[in-house]
Amino acid sequence: MNRKIVGLWMIVTLFLWGCSSDQMTHQQMTHQEDVAERGATVMPFDLERSTHIFEKLSDGGLQQVVSDDGDPEQIDLIQTHLREEATRFQQGDFHDPAMIHGEDMAGLQALSTGAEKLTIEYTELDEGGQIYYTTDDHELVTALHAWFDQQVADHGSHAMAEAPAESNSGGGMMGMRGNGSMRVAHHATIPDEYANLANPVAADSASLERGGEIYVVNCAVCHGDGGMGDGPAAENLDPAVSPIAHTSQMLGESYLFWRISEGGKGDPLTSAMPSWKETLDEEARWDVINYVQALGAGTIEPHSNMGGAMFDPAAELASRQEMLSEAMAQSLITQTEADTFMNVHTALDTLMAETGLRMQGDNTTTLLTILVDQETITQSDADDFERVHDILATAGLMH
Ligand code: HEC
Repeated sequence: MNRKIVGLWMIVTLFLWGCSSDQMTHQQMTHQEDVAERGATVMPFDLERSTHIFEKLSDGGLQQVVSDDGDPEQIDLIQTHLREEATRFQQGDFHDPAMIHGEDMAGLQALSTGAEKLTIEYTELDEGGQIYYTTDDHELVTALHAWFDQQVADHGSHAMAEAPAESNSGGGMMGMRGNGSMRVAHHATIPDEYANLANPVAADSASLERGGEIYVVNCAVCHGDGGMGDGPAAENLDPAVSPIAHTSQMLGESYLFWRISEGGKGDPLTSAMPSWKETLDEEARWDVINYVQALGAGTIEPHSNMGGAMFDPAAELASRQEMLSEAMAQSLITQTEADTFMNVHTALDTLMAETGLRMQGDNTTTLLTILVDQETITQSDADDFERVHDILATAGLMH
């Protein structure tokens, strides 16, 4: 659980950090200020000294509020408020959030009219409390997620105040730990016997089903249900467990097949990743690759088994933005370079999604050349991108 919270923390704080950087418009700012002001009248605890965490789940969501400084009085206020709100929400009374965020708040209408189809449970946490929402109704899940999104966006500036300090403390931020080793693996040369493989198994529903079964039984315990590297056994592993839903969108199939077959037994790095070539036949390994790629593409619903976050492109984008903000804060790059990096990265993502081409070894230059040829970016954009990429990698900021 702890681990999950840390992960969430990162997603939420990075998201907030992302929104609050230079791209934030004046309007959003003022809106957040309004929210803070109205929030202070509705929420009895100190917004400045608490963190709101919203986790979307396939059948609902989890909302947590925790005190930043562990002040017992604040914790008590948080707990009382959340307990009361949970009771009101269950009765369809969403008056308080409407007051803070506006009557037209995303998802609000659906949640208040559909409240009886929701199960809303309050639980006390050491440092605060949580409300757990579940429902069988797919539309209500969507409404709940939209409602969460708006709260994350609106409470931005507050939670953010503590976020950069937190992230610099290196206190186990998911994705930071073991980052260096992951990069080592990504740039390693694929052994001949695995080089230039193409997946012979079509990613049809039968393959995805087989892959899902293999994944649930063998992989989710470390990689998490959603493939974000946050399964229950992931805690304390160093090198950290990869968020393979995400990395599989960028890495080639030869690479994935090689790493799954051989695991982390020394080359290119020593890790807890088991070798699967004795246990899973080749077809099974390709099936599970199909499954993991589908997880990352968001085209399948993960099995609910071990717990863990889903791959969330918005969070990914926010974490990229956070990395750039950090580099700017350290005066390593300028705003213009950050913008170029962001644009080129987006172009690369689109290229990879459209063509199935992947970053592999050191072929980034090849992919960039394609983009230049397409006139999607200029040669100077490509050069800047590679330069900034190196700066970020050297500074240890690369995610
Ligand atoms: C005991 C925990 C554990 C289990 C179980 C596990 N892995 Fe891993 N896996 C890791 C760790 C740790 C890493 C990161 C270090 C590394 O790359 O060796 C990793 C890395 C990977 C990578 C490389 C991703 C990248 O970004 O470089 C792939 C692919 C992968 N695992 C797939 C799987 C699959 C598929 C299964 C199930 C068949 C599985 N893993 C089971 C721990 C685990």
